[in-house]
Amino acid sequence: MSATSKTPARTADDIRSRKGGEPLVSLTAYTTPMAQLMDAHCDFVLVGDSVGMVLHGLPSTLGVTMDMMVMHGRAVARGLSQALMVVDMPFGSYESGVEAAFANAARLMAETGAGAVKLEGGRHMAETIGFLVARGIPVMAHIGLTPQSVNALGGYKVQGRDAAAQAVIDDARAVADAGAFAVVLEKIPASLADRITADVEIPTIGIGASAGCDGQILVVDDMLGMFTAFKPKFVKRYAELGQTAEQAVSAYAADVRARRFPEAGHVFADTTPGATS
Ligand code: KIV
Repeated sequence: MSATSKTPARTADDIRSRKGGEPLVSLTAYTTPMAQLMDAHCDFVLVGDSVGMVLHGLPSTLGVTMDMMVMHGRAVARGLSQALMVVDMPFGSYESGVEAAFANAARLMAETGAGAVKLEGGRHMAETIGFLVARGIPVMAHIGLTPQSVNALGGYKVQGRDAAAQAVIDDARAVADAGAFAVVLEKIPASLADRITADVEIPTIGIGASAGCDGQILVVDDMLGMFTAFKPKFVKRYAELGQTAEQAVSAYAADVRARRFPEAGHVFADTTPGATS
């Protein structure tokens, strides 16, 4: 490989081949600078529909549109050269039938440069997953707590406890059989996540699941302490950037009000520095 050539970007197949190997690392991203920062550290980056809550102040992911996903997908793509980019299909863009799902998934792939899409749902989405995969679109599935169904689920509750475990196991089997290259397991008991990880031949990506999953994902603003409206139990805060930013804004406001900012080094002289005449 020449000095100027880049490591080729990871593909959905690369992610699938990591089943049972070194854990897959993933975070969400919605902007170019954040994507640049995580490119060397993440195996795949998800342009999640969580963008609606995290960056747009929406109360849930239900109001996220195709145009929003395209815009954020394009921004993230500009920041990635190694990690696979997966883009979420927003609520309403794939549930009505396979043709609509294909048209919207194809638009996301074509207009953002994504290497795969993600959609929520198990057995009832298996036909759609199969349809997309057969037509060249790699699909990551998402089961357990599926936030787009928050109204039907009665809140952001743990899924698959006790007798409900079998339904999640069946969902995992269905999406794997349909051809998904990986499956996100959200907010399910750890022992259930371990069982599914052992059962299916595709990588499981945990969020509120188990350290035994084949990989982990978090919403980046949660783990950096930038989204603080609420903190799910499964989030580990690796920084408190929200607090740091608030302190910086407060210090700036105090400086401006006291005329401490700008200082001499921030303003311009009326002659060009170094000019002799
Ligand atoms: O939208 C999102 O951010 C997600 C992940 C948290 C899995 O779906």
